[in-house]
Amino acid sequence: MTRKPIIAGNWKMHNNCAQSKELIKGIREKVDGLDIAKLPEIVVAPVFTSLGAVNEEICHCGCGRIKLAAQNVYYEAKGAFTGEIAIDMLKDFEISYIIIGHSERRQYFGETDEMINKKAKVILDNGIIPIICCGETLEQREQGVTDAHIAKQISEALKGLSADEVKKSVIAYEPIWAIGTGKTCDSTEANRVIKHIRSVVEKEAGKEAADAIRILYGGSVKPETIVEQMAQSDIDGALVGGASLKADSFAEIVKGAMAK
Ligand code: 13P
Repeated sequence: MTRKPIIAGNWKMHNNCAQSKELIKGIREKVDGLDIAKLPEIVVAPVFTSLGAVNEEICHCGCGRIKLAAQNVYYEAKGAFTGEIAIDMLKDFEISYIIIGHSERRQYFGETDEMINKKAKVILDNGIIPIICCGETLEQREQGVTDAHIAKQISEALKGLSADEVKKSVIAYEPIWAIGTGKTCDSTEANRVIKHIRSVVEKEAGKEAADAIRILYGGSVKPETIVEQMAQSDIDGALVGGASLKADSFAEIVKGAMAK
């Protein structure tokens, strides 16, 4: 089973329009000359207000080289939901992916598994691909409940989706204790958890979907860690935070994923 790798940059709450433009131009220059046949899918997720500016820059890049993602969406179509954004509004831009259920959204904005499931459905109904995040806290890891916690997050996120929809989706395993801390999860352990996620997907949607779904690792991914991470059997790419904010380090991570 060959799964096309993905290197996705989650810019989180960084960069206004001008800064986003500068960053995407820098990335573009560095990836434009690379062998397209070996490139992973390159995805960038700027803040909502920079989606237009980044989309314009992406269009100048070799076709399909860089894809656009949003960091969130609300599941209602429209209405009195001050501060939220609906899928139709995101469709003004050429969005390929939407990140949902990031631990920061769960922790600071009260996002629940049920909301994440509703978001996944809306995203897929609109022909966009959700990047569904999951991951355990340090406390959960120390208590030995990592696998059970992640199984619950994934089962609930995928509830009611068809096998075909699951197959198209992307999951990101991001242990919370590894996010922004510089402490990367050991690659073999990340691979073990990702295999576990695949077994949960198999239970929910069958073997074909489990074999096809792309599962990324996230949490302090750097140019120095990516080659070993990509060498693991079940890691299909990375969701990168801090190191995606500099064109140099992000491009190095992309290059590190080219061998897979
Ligand atoms: P860092 O790469 O900064 O640890 O962030 C990971 C992350 O949360 C990506 O979504």
